[in-house]
Amino acid sequence: MNEWEIAIKMCALFFPIGKTGAYSIPVLEQIDPKKDCIQALIIVPTRELALQTSQICIELAKHLDVRVMVTTGGTNLRDDIMRIYQKVQVIIATPGRILDLMEKGVAVMDQCKILVLDEADKLLSQDFKGMLDTVIKNLPQERQILLFSATFPLTVEQFMRKHLRDPYEINLMEELTLKGVTQYYAFVQERQKVHCLNTLFSKLQINQSIIFCNSTQRVELLAKKITELGYCCYYIHAKMAQAHRNRVFHDFRAGLCRNLVCSDLFTRGIDVQAVNVVINFDFPKMAETYLHRIGRSGRFGHLGIAINLITYDDRFALHRIEQELGTEIKPIPKVIDPKLYVAKLLDDDDTPEANAK
Ligand SMILES: *[C@@H]1O[C@H](CO)[C@@H](O)[C@H](O)[C@H]1NC(C)=O
Ligand SMILES: *[C@@H]1O[C@H](CO)[C@@H](O)[C@H](O)[C@H]1NC(C)=O
Repeated sequence: MNEWEIAIKMCALFFPIGKTGAYSIPVLEQIDPKKDCIQALIIVPTRELALQTSQICIELAKHLDVRVMVTTGGTNLRDDIMRIYQKVQVIIATPGRILDLMEKGVAVMDQCKILVLDEADKLLSQDFKGMLDTVIKNLPQERQILLFSATFPLTVEQFMRKHLRDPYEINLMEELTLKGVTQYYAFVQERQKVHCLNTLFSKLQINQSIIFCNSTQRVELLAKKITELGYCCYYIHAKMAQAHRNRVFHDFRAGLCRNLVCSDLFTRGIDVQAVNVVINFDFPKMAETYLHRIGRSGRFGHLGIAINLITYDDRFALHRIEQELGTEIKPIPKVIDPKLYVAKLLDDDDTPEANAK
């Protein structure tokens, strides 16, 4: 394991800082506060992400005497130019704006030894038409480039071959596993879904559950219906502010409520140990989404069940995802054996550590 790998794995454990912390901490460590020049550049695809990243980075840099600046489109260019002329050592930017500043000769990059591309798959997509190649031309020969990507499309691979020498790859996806999760499907009509969910709630021994819908609107609607049925239910979706989402997730994790309805916003598997039932109220179209929703990271490998509500329109996706992931999704039986998902409460003497003694 090299130092990046350690940093990334550590930060994956601290949910709210997560990936941003994984690269910000080592980047900040390598900044020489005595040098009055831009030493690291972090590029992200959206303004929101740039602001969010800079907040974390500024917080982490608070006691380091390192100056961090964020610059994105949609803000006053002249203000940014003024700020860059003061001592700035780390810049967080969206691609268009930083190129603009480079071309004007304002952002001087000849001492910038680290480039981080966050959400590299988006940055290297058609949306940004080769802008990153231009950014790299402005960097010194000796530099380190770090790519963070949820997926690994051809564009990222090509970019790697072109600009990275003998790169070190860390794949956290491998750790997401379906082991220990028994997967079922129930064939239903769209209008039967809520009824079916209600039946599941009454039959299953749910410790905590997460229920996935495919849109913000459906998340809110379903959460409302579940509440009306008399079950405690939280929801989170992508349109809620990050701070609000974090609070709901925190409360859910603390066990204040049994059920959580959400859209696809966990970037990697659910790491709430108390969740023993995951329900795909809307079945996803992509295998990757399915794996993110249902998969568990290896370190928690414990028991659970996943139940997929499948409509007529989902039938092909079901088989495709099953094949792509090399897994089996079985028809739901009348009775589900509790041994598959209900943890038996262990005595202290019964824990694996105690047994190993
Ligand atoms: C979400 O699921 C509903 C019901 O299956 C479907 O009508 C709708 O088109 C889906 N929306 C998206 C964005 O896939
Ligand atoms: C059940 O969930 C609660 C929180 O809701 C948690 O404290 C407890 O450990 C969970 N039990 C099991 C067996 O996972």
